[in-house]
Amino acid sequence: MKIKLPETLPEHIAIIMDGNGRWARKRGMPRKMGHKAGAETFRTLATFCRDIGIKHLTVYALSTENRTSRPPEEVDEVYDLLRRYINESLETMERDRVRLKFLGHIAALPEDIQALISQAEETSSKYEGCQCNICVNYGGRDEMVRAARELMGLSSGIKLDDVDADVFARHLDTAFLPDPAICIRTGGEKRLSNFLLWQLAYSELVFTDTLWPDFNQKELASILTECSKRKRRFGGL
Ligand code: IPE
Ligand code: IPE
Ligand code: MG
Repeated sequence: MKIKLPETLPEHIAIIMDGNGRWARKRGMPRKMGHKAGAETFRTLATFCRDIGIKHLTVYALSTENRTSRPPEEVDEVYDLLRRYINESLETMERDRVRLKFLGHIAALPEDIQALISQAEETSSKYEGCQCNICVNYGGRDEMVRAARELMGLSSGIKLDDVDADVFARHLDTAFLPDPAICIRTGGEKRLSNFLLWQLAYSELVFTDTLWPDFNQKELASILTECSKRKRRFGGL
């Protein structure tokens, strides 16, 4: 498949991977099959991003609200896919050279997943091909509250007067990552659903009706091309 890309690519892309459940329902399958297909799509897209030279890819896999508001069986199914994904990644890491990071309230995840996450982050920290940030039990509001608590904690040693946007950003899960240039949401909804509320302040937003398991490299390339024509002004002229 020949895929046309724009001359300049963004450093960081964020994706809200939505539509797994509807994809499965359309096929008369249980929702978990949609999540399984979605996980495959993520693998393919992450490899593509690495191959074309995107430095950072941040994806929304499970929100704080998904964890607390969906049936526990569905959350467990997502956890199982995560376990499988991390275990497979640990096996193929040497070849893939993708650096894995997990953003969100990780301490509230099952302990075995926390251990897998630490292992994957540690083992892949030496790779510089592409950094994949997977948001699990992530919520933009929760992230900001955790950052504020850390800043106000005695151990931070920071004086209140010294807190500015840069200092605050260094206490977010995305500390030291550039803000995403583009945020894509699949699945047709036009909202952020608590994703990267701070970091998306000036990002280009793209909404597509394609359900996440049907999203592919070709559609990503065409979104990148369309966004490369947009002028980002950051409040200037
Ligand atoms: C996104 O797909 C994945 C998760 C939230 C875990 P959904 O599960 O929200 O799929 P739809 O929106 O119901 O189709
Ligand atoms: C956002 O999708 C979360 C993820 C894709 C992981 P949701 O399906 O949870 O969002 P809402 O409920 O439609 O806003
Ligand atoms: Mg959804």
